[in-house]
Amino acid sequence: MKTKHLVSISDLEKEDILEIFETAAALKSKQKSGKKYTPLEGKTLAMIFSKPSTRTRVSFETGIYQLGGLGLFLSGQELQLRRGETISDTARTLSRYINGIMIRTFSHNDVEELAKHSDVPVINGLTDLEHPCQALGDVFTILEKKCSKSDVQGLKKLKFVFIGDGNNVANSLMLLCAKLSINFTVITPAGYEPDKNIFNSAKEISPDIKLSNEVAGVAAADVMYTDVWTSMGKDEEREKRLQVFKPYQVNASLLSKAKPDCIVMHCLPAKRGEEITNDVIDGKNSVVFDQAENRLHIQKAIMLLLMS
Ligand code: CP
Ligand code: NVA
Repeated sequence: MKTKHLVSISDLEKEDILEIFETAAALKSKQKSGKKYTPLEGKTLAMIFSKPSTRTRVSFETGIYQLGGLGLFLSGQELQLRRGETISDTARTLSRYINGIMIRTFSHNDVEELAKHSDVPVINGLTDLEHPCQALGDVFTILEKKCSKSDVQGLKKLKFVFIGDGNNVANSLMLLCAKLSINFTVITPAGYEPDKNIFNSAKEISPDIKLSNEVAGVAAADVMYTDVWTSMGKDEEREKRLQVFKPYQVNASLLSKAKPDCIVMHCLPAKRGEEITNDVIDGKNSVVFDQAENRLHIQKAIMLLLMS
């Protein structure tokens, strides 16, 4: 892979993305067959978390272990960062001990700063602006569910809609879909559109990245994706958002407008009964747990490609 870090989907060329998908597919089948494969033996991944996590933490920690390495969980609260040590000093220090850094935090700029001063690869495990590992795992899942094996051309025939908040997940999906020429529409209430700069960059790459405020835009979708209406760090807006987003709920009536074999996706954690109803998330169209599993395989591929 050409890039040293994965801070944003924009760090990746199309070839890098395809290499990640191919590597993830190979690692997944190796793991399913029970074969041990430990190319990262002796390597350590520091995992800095300043926000909660279930999937990202467990999939990175178990992923590095399966590849023969060690995952070191570091709470943002317990590092000297909290007492004012600079990001650059933290990056330069960690680089002397470990072979990679995964970080989940609030400010995207902080992750850029960390990468700038780190001698070892930095992987973004979610910021307020992006969630690149999630988007990569998601499109890998779509590829498995909707296209014959690794036929990325097949992705171009799909209608992919994201409905809800134009958040970090939507931003990373926009960039990724643009790079792969996937027809992708983000449907949000007015005022909750994805990041303007990211949308403009995505649109420059592909005309098939669109925004809409109309729920009717889900018609004939092959893939319908939603995420929480209130992301981590926005909790004080929760009550207002519950009202504004109500018409954008993924429920049986909305799903009936999509193609009968439309897959329903959610990065999880879900707020059941808010952005998605129980019958839909537990229904036959839902692929949310396969999607969650694929975080493991895709991140193992990312670590292998960046840390070998
Ligand atoms: N989807 C995701 O990143 O989940 P966690 O917040 O549990 O890591
Ligand atoms: N958009 C959500 C994703 C959680 C994995 C958040 O940032 O809270």
